[in-house]
Amino acid sequence: MTEKKSANPSSAGFAGRATPESCSLVIFGATGDLTHRKLIPALYNLAADGDLPQGMRVIGFARRDKTDEVFRQELEEAAKKFSRRPIDQALWNSFASSIYYHRSEFGDLEGYRRLREQLDGLDLKKGGTGNRVFYLSSGPDQFDTILTNLKASSLAESSANSWARVIVEKPFGTDLATAEHLNKVVQNSFDESSTFRIDHFLGKETAQNIMVLRFANAIFEHLWNHRYIDHVQITASELLGIGNRAGYYDGAGALRDMVQNHLLQLLCLIAMEPPTDLRADSIRDEKVKVLRSLRRISGEDVGRDVVRAQYGPGSIEEKPVPSYRQEKNVKPDSQTETYVALRILIDNWRWADVPFYVRVGKRMPKSGTEISIHFKNAPGVLFNSNRDQSRGRDGTQNVLVIRIQPDEGVSLRMQSKVPGASARIQPVKMDFAYGTSFGKASPEAYERLLLDAMAGDATLFARRDEVEEAWRFIDEIEEGWHALERKPGLYFYAAGTWGPVVADQLIENDGRAWRVT
Ligand code: BG6
Repeated sequence: MTEKKSANPSSAGFAGRATPESCSLVIFGATGDLTHRKLIPALYNLAADGDLPQGMRVIGFARRDKTDEVFRQELEEAAKKFSRRPIDQALWNSFASSIYYHRSEFGDLEGYRRLREQLDGLDLKKGGTGNRVFYLSSGPDQFDTILTNLKASSLAESSANSWARVIVEKPFGTDLATAEHLNKVVQNSFDESSTFRIDHFLGKETAQNIMVLRFANAIFEHLWNHRYIDHVQITASELLGIGNRAGYYDGAGALRDMVQNHLLQLLCLIAMEPPTDLRADSIRDEKVKVLRSLRRISGEDVGRDVVRAQYGPGSIEEKPVPSYRQEKNVKPDSQTETYVALRILIDNWRWADVPFYVRVGKRMPKSGTEISIHFKNAPGVLFNSNRDQSRGRDGTQNVLVIRIQPDEGVSLRMQSKVPGASARIQPVKMDFAYGTSFGKASPEAYERLLLDAMAGDATLFARRDEVEEAWRFIDEIEEGWHALERKPGLYFYAAGTWGPVVADQLIENDGRAWRVT
C-alpha cells in the first residue's frame, strides 16, 4: 500500500496537511499525572484554537470509582493550573461536556466490552465516526494487558468506515528485549501505520524546525559535515529533581529516561541525510540510518566515553535541596544516575571523527535544552593568527545554537571588528527568537502530537526499528556499567551545579569545552 503524502505540520506550506479526523480518544490511566498536566490542557487549547475535530470526545479509563462529573471537575482544576492559556469557563464547559469516565480494571475483559458498548452508544446518540484512538498512559507494566484486551474485545479493529489507532507513551521498554516484546504485543493488536510511539520532544516546535533550518536554507547544508564542523553539543538540563517519580525513575536513570529517546532523536535530526521526500517513512528511514551508524560504546570504552553521576545535596535558586538519595521513595544507596554525559561518534562519511557531546541532568543550575554546532576555525592567516589551539575555547569558532527550549530560537556566533581605531576582533551574535519573529507562543508538543495521531500522520512518532536501534546502542552502555569487573564509578555533583568535574574532563581531554549556556 502506498503511504499517503505526509501531512505533518513540519511540511505544512510545502505538502499540505491532512485533516485530523473526529474520533473518541480513550485514555488508559486517566487519573494519572500525564492526563492532568499534559493531555487535557493540550486538548483544551486545541479546542480553544478551533483545531479539535467536531464531535471528538474523550473517555478516561481507570480503576478508581468516580462519576463523569467528578472526573470533569478534577480535570478542570488541573487545566486551570497547567493550561498554557487561561481557562475560559464557557469554553471549558462545552469542552468538558464531551469528557466521560469509564471505570474498569485493566485486566478485566468485561470492562472493555462495556467500553465498546459505551463508545458505540455515544456514537449512536450524539453522532460519531466510530474512529478510536487508544492512549496508553498507564504504568508500562499494564501495556501488555491493555493491548491484549483491546484485541480480545475487538476494539482494536479498523473497518472499511472507521479506524482504530494506539498511542503508546514512554517508556517504550526498559531495554532492547522488553522493547522488542512490547513491539510484538502492539503489532499483535495494531499494524505499524496505526501505532504512534510518543517521543514528545519531536512535537516541540523547535525540534521540528531543525529539518526546516537544514533543508529549507541554502547556506547550511554545504557546511554540515566533517570538513567544516568541529563538533556538536547537545545539552538538556533541568532545575527540577525527580519529585514524586522515584517509582519509575529510580529503575530507569537519565540514560534510559532521556538519552535513549529524546536526545538520540535530536541527534538524528541534526545528523540525518536529507530524506527523499517528507513522508513519515522517508524521514524515519534516514533517522534509523544514523542510529545504525552510532559507534557502539561498550566494555572498557564506557568508562572513557560516558560519565554517570547523581546529585547530592545542594541549592537551587538559593534554596537548599536534598540529595537524590534523600528524595521520597529513593533507595538510600541508590546507584541510579541523574546526570549522564557521553561522547558519541557517528561512523559515516558525513560525520567521520566529529564528536557529538551529549549531556543531560536533573538539578542543574537552570532548565534548558539546546544544540550547538561548533564550526572549525577559519585559517588563522589574516586574523586570529595568535589564537591558542583550543578548538574554539577562545571564542573564535562560529557556533550555531539551536535553542529547543525555553527562549526558543537560533543564533549564530560570528567574529566582528570592534568599532574604532583598534584592530580588535570580538565574537558577536546574530539571533532569531520565535517570540519576537512570530509574536505568539509555540503550542505544547502534545497538542501537535495528538492532532497528528488523529490525522494518521506518524512523522513525529518513533517507528519500531528506531526504538529498537536506540535501545541497542543504550543497552551496551548499560551492560558496560553493570559488568562487575570493570564497573565505572558513579560520580556525584552538588544539586545546582553543572555536573561532576569528570564530565568536564570528558570533553576537555579532546581540547574542547562545554558551551556555557
Ligand atoms: C520526560 C522525562 O520524558 O521528559 C522527564 O521522563 C523529563 O524526566 C521530561 O523531565 C522533560 O521534558 P520537557 O518537555 O519538560 O523538557
